Amino acid sequence: MKRICLILFFLAASAAAFASEPKLISIETSETQMLLYVQENGEVSFYHYGKKFDRPEQISGYRSYRRWDYGTEPPAYPARGGRYFNQAALAVKYSTGELNTELLYEGHSVRNVSDAAVRTVVSLKDSKTDLSVDLYYDAYQKEDVIVTHAEITNGGRKPVVLESYASSAINIHASRYLLTHFYGSWAREMQVKRELLTPGIKSIRSIKGVRTTHTENPSFMLSLDAAEFNENYGEVIAGALAWSGNYSIDFQIDETEMLSVVSGAGTPGADYQLKPGKTFQTPDMIYTFSAEGAGKASRNLHSWARRHYLYDSSMMCPTLLNNWEGTYFKFNEQILKGIIDNVASMGLEMFVLDDGWFGGKDYPRNGSNQGLGDWQIVEEKLPNGVAAIADYAHSKGLKFGIWIEPEMVNPKSRLAQEHPEWIVGEKGRELTTIRTQWLLDMTNPEVQDFVFGVFDSTMQLAEGIDYIKWDCNRHMENVGSEHLGENQSHFWWDYNQGLYSVYRRIREKYPDVIIQSCSSGGGRLDYGALHYCNEAWTSDNTEALSRVFIQYGTNLIYPAIACGSHVSAVPNHQTQNVTPLKFRFDVACSERLGMELQPSDMTGQEKDFARKAIASFKQYRDLVYYGDLYRLCSPYDGDYYALMYVSEDKKRAVVFTYTIRYQGRTLKPSFKLEGLSDDMEYSIRELNVDKSCFWGDGKTFSGSYLKNFGINPEIPKLYSSAVFYLEAR
Ligand code: GLA
Repeated sequence: MKRICLILFFLAASAAAFASEPKLISIETSETQMLLYVQENGEVSFYHYGKKFDRPEQISGYRSYRRWDYGTEPPAYPARGGRYFNQAALAVKYSTGELNTELLYEGHSVRNVSDAAVRTVVSLKDSKTDLSVDLYYDAYQKEDVIVTHAEITNGGRKPVVLESYASSAINIHASRYLLTHFYGSWAREMQVKRELLTPGIKSIRSIKGVRTTHTENPSFMLSLDAAEFNENYGEVIAGALAWSGNYSIDFQIDETEMLSVVSGAGTPGADYQLKPGKTFQTPDMIYTFSAEGAGKASRNLHSWARRHYLYDSSMMCPTLLNNWEGTYFKFNEQILKGIIDNVASMGLEMFVLDDGWFGGKDYPRNGSNQGLGDWQIVEEKLPNGVAAIADYAHSKGLKFGIWIEPEMVNPKSRLAQEHPEWIVGEKGRELTTIRTQWLLDMTNPEVQDFVFGVFDSTMQLAEGIDYIKWDCNRHMENVGSEHLGENQSHFWWDYNQGLYSVYRRIREKYPDVIIQSCSSGGGRLDYGALHYCNEAWTSDNTEALSRVFIQYGTNLIYPAIACGSHVSAVPNHQTQNVTPLKFRFDVACSERLGMELQPSDMTGQEKDFARKAIASFKQYRDLVYYGDLYRLCSPYDGDYYALMYVSEDKKRAVVFTYTIRYQGRTLKPSFKLEGLSDDMEYSIRELNVDKSCFWGDGKTFSGSYLKNFGINPEIPKLYSSAVFYLEAR
C-alpha cells in the first residue's frame, strides 16, 4: 500500500509539474499492472498489461522498433487518423466531413474511489478540434480486476458523428494467442470455442440488439504464449463487456504480430450523433490478468463481481420451483396451490408463477400468440387474482415470484391496437414477428414509462412479491423507431440506455426485489444486465448433460450465485434425454438450485430424494454462492466433469463429480482437489446417498494428500455422479 501511495504521489506530482514531459502512467492492482506512457509528442501509448514488475519506470526509454518513421507505438485509445493504422477504438466524422482524430495527452489524475479501487483518469484532446476523451481505469486491488471505459465529449460548436466508440483497447505481445470464446443459440448457450488467433481480425459480436448470448457472449479469455488452455498455469487475460446490446470485441494481430483487442458497444452502422457540449459514456470493459492459468482468472472475476458489480450479491436467491415446464400455460388456482403444497413439503423456499397469468378478458394468455402487452389477470385461471396465489405461498412460509415480459407486445393485444407507434419497425415494411411478438420501442420515454409501469403494477398485484423473472423472447431485426425520426442509427444504443434507465428507476423504488434476467433462457447474460438484476436464467435447456457444458462455459466468466439451474422432468422436454434424478440434482446444485416440473408427477421416493438433496444444498450453498471455484477437469476434454467450491478461509469445500460419457469399465477417474490448505485436515462425506461410492467416505485426510493424490469415487456408469462435503477438523 505504501508503495502504491508513493507511486500515486509521484504520478500526481509529475502530472502537475511537467504537463508536456514524457511520463509513465501505472495502473496497478495487487499483482497486475497496466502501463501507459506519454510520449514527447503527447501521444499516450499502451505498453503493458500483465504481471507487475519492479520499478515500472524502467520502461520509460522503451522502443518497440515497430516502425521508425511513424505509427510506432500502440495508442492507449486508438482514434481513426493520425499515424495509427490498426483497428480504431474511436472513429469520428466532423461536421466538415473530416475523418481524422489525433488524441494527445492533457493530464491525468489518480484517486481512491473506494477502499477497494483506485481510479486513474487520463484526459486526451484532439490536436485540431475540441473533441476530448477521458479514459477511466478503476483498479480493484484485491481481485486484480481493472474496469475501464471512455467518455467522449464534443466541446465544439457543431455536432459530430461517432462512427465507432469502443470502451477500450489493449495491446499485448506474445508468441501465441489462444482465444477462448463463447457461442450459442437458444438452448445451447455459452458453448466454448478455443482457437489460436492468426493474423487478421477475429471479431466476436452480436447484432441482435437485445440479446448478447444467443450468438456470442461479450466475454473471452486469452491464454498467452500457449497452444493449450490450462486451469493452473500460464498467463491469461479475461475480459467482459458490461453491455446488453450490440457489441463487438475485435482481436487483431498486425504485421508485427502484436495483438490489439478493441471492445465496445455498437457494430457498423450504429453511428451516433453527439451534439455540442454533450458527453458520450461508453459501457464498462472489465479485465483481469492471471499468471496462474484460467482458474485464477475466473476466480478474480467472480469475487470482483460479487463484491463490487452484481446487483447486491448479499441477497441469496432462495431455492425455488418455477411452474413453466410443469404446467406451461395450463394452470388454475387449484393446480398452483397443489404445486405450492409440494414446494413447501420438499423444503424449497419460493414459488415462481411463470408465463400465462395475464392478457385480461380480450386476449387471455393461453399460448404465446396473444396477450403480451395487456398485463391484466386472466380471471378464468385466477378468479381471486395473483394475490390468492402469493398469499397461499406466503402462508406456507414460501416467498413468491412472478414472470413478466414488459418490452414485448403480441399483435393480438389491446396494446398493439392502442399504441401502434410504440412498436419497433419501419413504416412501409413488413413488421416481422418472432414467437408471434413484436418489440416495444424502448428509445421512446413513453414506452420506458409503460415498461416501468408494468413492473410497478405487477409489484402491486399482491403483498410481498419477492422475485420478478424479466423475460425478453425476441431479438431485433427490422429496426425502426417513430420516436427517433432521422436518427435511426441511434436505435441500438438508445434502446439499451432506455432499458438501463428503467432498471435504475425500478431499483430506486424496489431495491430489495430479486430480479432474474431471462431472454429465451440465457440470451441476456452479461455484466450490463447483472448490474441491475440479481441473477440470470442460464438456459431454457434444463437437461442435465447439456447443462454441464452450458454451466462450465458460463462459470468461466460469471459466478454461480448469478446463475439459476433447475431440475426438470424426464424425458427432458428439450432433448428427450433421460438422466437419473440424482444426476439432475447434482448438476443443478452446482449453481443456484431450483426445480421446474409438476411435482405431483413425482413418486414418493423421488420426493424423498428431492427433500434430502434440497436440505443438503442449503447446508453448503454459501460455498457455491460465495466460495472460490476450482474446475478439476473440463467436460470438453474427457469423460468426466468435476468442480469444487472452497470457502475463503479454506475450512469448507464442496466437490461435484460427474460421468458424462460411458468410458468402459476399466477406466477409473481420480480427481486431485484444489484450493485446500496443505496444513489442514479435512473430513470428507458423500452427500445424498445411503452408501458412498468412495472408499474414503467418512475419513479424514490432509489437504496436501487431497491435493496431490486426490479422490477416486467410483462413478462408472453414464450419468453417475457424486457430491462430497469437506470440513476442516
Ligand atoms: C422463455 C423463458 C422460459 C419461459 C418462457 C415463457 O422461453 O426462457 O423460461 O419463461 O419464456 O413463455
